[in-house]
Amino acid sequence: MDKIRFMTLGRHIYEQERKYPEATGELSDLLHDLSLAAKVISLEVNKAGLVDILGFTGDHNVHGENVKKLDVFAHEMMIKAMDHGGHLCVMASEEDEDIIHIPEAFNIGKYVLLFDPLDGSSNIDANVSIGTIFSIYRRVSPDNGPGTMEDCLQPGKNQVAAGYIIYGSSTIFVYTAGNGVHGFTLDPSFGEFILSHKNIKTPKKGNIYSINEGNYLYWHPGLKKYIKWLQEEDKESERPYSSRYIGSMVSDIHRNMLYGGIFMYPADSRSPHGKLRLMYECNPMAFIIEQAGGRASDGITRMLEIQPKTLHQKTPIFIGCEEDVLMVEKFMREYDVLKVE
Ligand code: AHG
Ligand code: MN
Ligand code: MN
Repeated sequence: MDKIRFMTLGRHIYEQERKYPEATGELSDLLHDLSLAAKVISLEVNKAGLVDILGFTGDHNVHGENVKKLDVFAHEMMIKAMDHGGHLCVMASEEDEDIIHIPEAFNIGKYVLLFDPLDGSSNIDANVSIGTIFSIYRRVSPDNGPGTMEDCLQPGKNQVAAGYIIYGSSTIFVYTAGNGVHGFTLDPSFGEFILSHKNIKTPKKGNIYSINEGNYLYWHPGLKKYIKWLQEEDKESERPYSSRYIGSMVSDIHRNMLYGGIFMYPADSRSPHGKLRLMYECNPMAFIIEQAGGRASDGITRMLEIQPKTLHQKTPIFIGCEEDVLMVEKFMREYDVLKVE
């Protein structure tokens, strides 16, 4: 009988880092702290229906959206779990307008953490999968003082690690440190993340598309044509595609990465920059999908090449299997070329 290796997240991170003799173990500690925050948030999400935690706080986040109590809880939990570890110099969260300073004496760490504490929060009340997304950079400011805005505004290609936790039918922690994508499922009985998805690779081409079709009227004409093309019948290219849209980008992209597909949140005539945030959502998911063999862009430029200008900037996103993303880019490009001629 084959011996099954029992691999915890902690052990996996240490084994990965040991491959690099120059590694100090700091990144491992950071990921470990993140997994602790994930367990606490997971517990709170699971009991959300039982305690009086649902409903609006009455506050609005920096995007003018209603903030639910679990968003606030997750945001605060991330800060609590991360700001005294000594490995960070600064943080930024989707739920905070400014950068988050690390208390003095702990703020000379060499890493920078950006996160979306709860993604898909409009799904909380309906027991639909939601998640936490994180992104880690090396600091670029001098390492004898606190981190700065400049540390946070780095292009996605500078990420040293990124990941997400989905609170769904089970809780799963997926991460990359630039050496493949690995997924760990939380065993609730003894509270450990166990390796369940080793070296995830997404297919070269999928047969699922995910987009909010309610916005059809406002889309780029090339995108309209692409979606209609996906709905046509052609056995060879496995069309028509299936449509799947949860409304939590982290869960939509996770499913598509495993099964094969494309997720899109485009710009449209009402939202010229799209809806999703470059630093908290698009860059970490783009790093992960590239590590899984997929592709991510804003329709023209590789996501990870975009130079951020502001902390909360939005971007259109096309992310998933390489051939599918190339195809939507081609539809939009050809339409624009035709228009010019
Ligand atoms: P958040 O809950 O962090 O604000 O993110 C919600 C995002 C994303 O997860 C999802 O893909 C998208 O909003 C859904 O938007 P629509 O309702 O416009 O489709
Ligand atoms: Mn989000
Ligand atoms: Mn959020």
